[in-house]
Amino acid sequence: MLFIQTYNSIAKRGLAVFSTECYKLNEAEDPDAILLRSYSLHNVPISPTLKAVARAGAGVNNIPVEKLSELGVVVFNTPGANANAVKELALMSVIATSRHFLEAANWTKKLVGNGEEISPLIESGKKQFVGTEIQGKRLGVIGLGAIGGLVANDALALGMEVMAYDPFISVNIAWQLSSEVKRAESIEEIYKNCDYITLHVPLTDETRGMLNHQSFSLMKDGVHILNFSRGELVLEDDLEAALKERKIGKYITDFPTNRLLSLENTVVLPHIGASTKEAEENCAQMAANVLKQFLETGNIRNS
Ligand code: MLT
Repeated sequence: MLFIQTYNSIAKRGLAVFSTECYKLNEAEDPDAILLRSYSLHNVPISPTLKAVARAGAGVNNIPVEKLSELGVVVFNTPGANANAVKELALMSVIATSRHFLEAANWTKKLVGNGEEISPLIESGKKQFVGTEIQGKRLGVIGLGAIGGLVANDALALGMEVMAYDPFISVNIAWQLSSEVKRAESIEEIYKNCDYITLHVPLTDETRGMLNHQSFSLMKDGVHILNFSRGELVLEDDLEAALKERKIGKYITDFPTNRLLSLENTVVLPHIGASTKEAEENCAQMAANVLKQFLETGNIRNS
């Protein structure tokens, strides 16, 4: 009998793939395996019985991977399983930002409370929401895993020019990338030439704080930056300064902090990039399947 511990309802959904005759599911004591989504294992004592951890998601920064590897514990994630969900939100954000979607919708709703005839108010007020079109604008995609690759390819269909760079893998071998995506030779090329920059890299020691004063200074004035990867990729002190002096037009992030919430030109989402029914199902299933396969056959397959 093997014991599987889950920490979130999403991860728990994947448990259907386990036969309950062979496994005890969601047992807190000395698990053989753990399935989780965003729960942090960093300060959780590691049971000597633990053999594997599976994350229902792409990033593994909530898991002490190095420590677990030293103990012989295998860590799985679910690359690509939520990529479409994140891509849709990222591309929606490019358009929404350019058309002042949130501001315009909120402004219009507030008119109702005035008790006045709204047509004249709309006619005079809507001028403040003149936007820009994304057609012909250049999107810089940093990181070409499953999500970055989808964002790059689909932005082409919206009429954008797309330039892509991956700090770790050659763009030539990157994930099914369209030949219409321009390959940047360096990350600086992205910084200097793009109207929108979107981050799709994992959080590691190398990428932490990769966007900072120095990188902002190379960017076009008024560049919009999207972060659906991890908040810590951007140095918050430098970001705040660049937003206040309007070097950055808008910062759209899926990682809230108190400081960001108080800034005018930020759009802060509550980490919902992967929160669609489809993505949650895909991640839960994939995480459970790789775990089951490992526990039953010893086979390490990460997708
Ligand atoms: C990911 O790393 O893929 C996301 O953080 C998934 C999630 O929202 O749980």
